[in-house]
Amino acid sequence: MGTRTAKSCLFMLIFCVSMVNADDPYRYYTWTVTYGTLSPLGVPQQVILINGQFPGQKLEVVTNGNIVLNLINKLDQPFLLTWNGIKQRKNSWQDGVLGTNCPIPPNSNYTYTFQPKDQIGTFTYFPSLGMQKAAGGYGAFNVYERPYIPIPFANPDGDFSLLIGDWFKTGHKTLQQVLDSGKSLLFPDGLLINGQKTETFAGQQGKTYLFRVSNTGLSKSFNFRIQGHTLKLVEVEGSHTIQNVYDSIDVHVGQSIAVRSYARLNFFLSSKSWLLADVTSIPIAPSHPTA
Ligand SMILES: *[C@@H]1O[C@H](CO)[C@@H](O)[C@H](O)[C@H]1NC(C)=O
Repeated sequence: MGTRTAKSCLFMLIFCVSMVNADDPYRYYTWTVTYGTLSPLGVPQQVILINGQFPGQKLEVVTNGNIVLNLINKLDQPFLLTWNGIKQRKNSWQDGVLGTNCPIPPNSNYTYTFQPKDQIGTFTYFPSLGMQKAAGGYGAFNVYERPYIPIPFANPDGDFSLLIGDWFKTGHKTLQQVLDSGKSLLFPDGLLINGQKTETFAGQQGKTYLFRVSNTGLSKSFNFRIQGHTLKLVEVEGSHTIQNVYDSIDVHVGQSIAVRSYARLNFFLSSKSWLLADVTSIPIAPSHPTA
């Protein structure tokens, strides 16, 4: 009798412990997707906003945290967001791409529920249907390590996200028509950094900063460098790398990397002078130079 009670107590104890483990923290979001008008390249154009923002809110979670995200589509087209680089283990219907997810029709909503399981790193989310990504709707998605989980580099003194991508003044529906008519994609009109032509960062001499750089563009790779500084590559989409040091790094469409840079100077500098990203001539599809 005594043994049986002891056994059931033990069972209860194990059960309780595993219940506690299973209950990773929950984060709840409600995101409304709308059209808006912005002038990222100086010309007013239709863009896709998330809760009124372009780019959308930065998602910041800790590994295994649960995300419950109610996405309300107020566009005139079906919409889906995909969590680029996040492994949806046994959970593919949360991936937000055609084939595993039904598109969210206009004026309706869908609640994504998923865990970035056992992944730590730099990711993005973006619209996966049509050419909607060309109008925005994308954002940074950082997954941080849990306490006591070692990562192969010291915590940086600052952590900056840079969403860099080619950009077209032409609206996404027109771009889609161009492709549908059998022509290839136009040459981009410019490059945006966090939704703007220039971006500013402040830092202190002697400190080390982590730059999370994602290519949110449609067709062009870019070469990323920071004038007068070196870049130590530490992570690519959730995989820690051999930490080689580079003067510049190519980032291809859809890729995310994390580099550490030691500040040789105090800085409060804009992307114009200090941080450079060039569209390199590595098109995915042959492109026609436009006059
Ligand atoms: C749609 O949103 C409402 C609240 O705004 C929520 O109660 C409902 O569960 C959502 N439906 C889906 C399918 O996510």
